[in-house]
Amino acid sequence: MRCVPRHLVSIADLERGEIVQILDRGDRYRALADEPIKKLTSLRGRTVINMFFESSTRTRTSFEIAAKRLSAEAINIGGAATSTSKGETLLDTAENLEAMYPDAIVVRHSFGGAAAMLARAARCAVINAGDGQHEHPTQALLDAATIRRAKGGVEGLEVAIVGDIAHSRVARSNILCLAKLGARVRLVAPWTLIPRGIEEIGGEETRARVRIATRLEAGLDGADVVMMLRVQHERFAGEAPRFPNTRELSRTFGLSERSLRFAKADAIVMHPGPINRGVELSPEVADGPRAVILQQVSWGVAIRMAVLERAILGDLPAEGERA
Ligand code: CP
Repeated sequence: MRCVPRHLVSIADLERGEIVQILDRGDRYRALADEPIKKLTSLRGRTVINMFFESSTRTRTSFEIAAKRLSAEAINIGGAATSTSKGETLLDTAENLEAMYPDAIVVRHSFGGAAAMLARAARCAVINAGDGQHEHPTQALLDAATIRRAKGGVEGLEVAIVGDIAHSRVARSNILCLAKLGARVRLVAPWTLIPRGIEEIGGEETRARVRIATRLEAGLDGADVVMMLRVQHERFAGEAPRFPNTRELSRTFGLSERSLRFAKADAIVMHPGPINRGVELSPEVADGPRAVILQQVSWGVAIRMAVLERAILGDLPAEGERA
């Protein structure tokens, strides 16, 4: 097997065809989750280090499960358990880990640019599991997989991304991914939570497909997909207030059964998690029939299996061999 490590730092690294390849492979691995034996052998003998310097429930666990389902060794380190707490730089930490010859490093860090910095220095593949408010590419891929399954495709859909766009790496990766797949994206929030020029992040591709709505009703009108985001309070340090208080934001931009009526009758509701129930999303909607939030989590494992294979093997293998 050819061994060409491929980093995944940003959705911008991927051509449309590569995204579709990952989604197609993800379809196959999503089906594997329903089998009693879920293990394949394509990454047997390989080592994946999950290096998480920010908290995570879904991403970290699903990367570990994904690696193990492909028979790779998965090692988890992060936060206070690493020598960064003794003053070691992130780059030094990564170089020391690389000296142990892993095949891939999966990294989450509060610094937007952490994954790119490691990718420039690393010999092994580096996968961005969320860097500050920059990007979360595997989240966008699993979101695309979820939409594709629920709606039969992504092209031509109207997708509303609602909430704290300003601090959201999920929003940035989704704008790039959805535009590449031919969807139209509305960014729905008060002006203070929409960074100036965000519709240009993917150049002409996103400029033509992204529009901004500063009222929930207008933003949801005719939407096929409603993707809610939580307020990322952890990234507000040192900023001037962007809205009077969370209760007011919730009243004007929160999704309830009533405000969901603005969207199409068959619109699906998504959320990357963690949800702040009763803030951006009412419990009735979060647990209701239109929500595909737990399906997103299931797709996370399948898509991350495909991403790990691509990163380590250079190409997706023709057929996953059963363990
Ligand atoms: N969606 C997401 O990144 O969730 P975690 O923070 O739990 O990984």
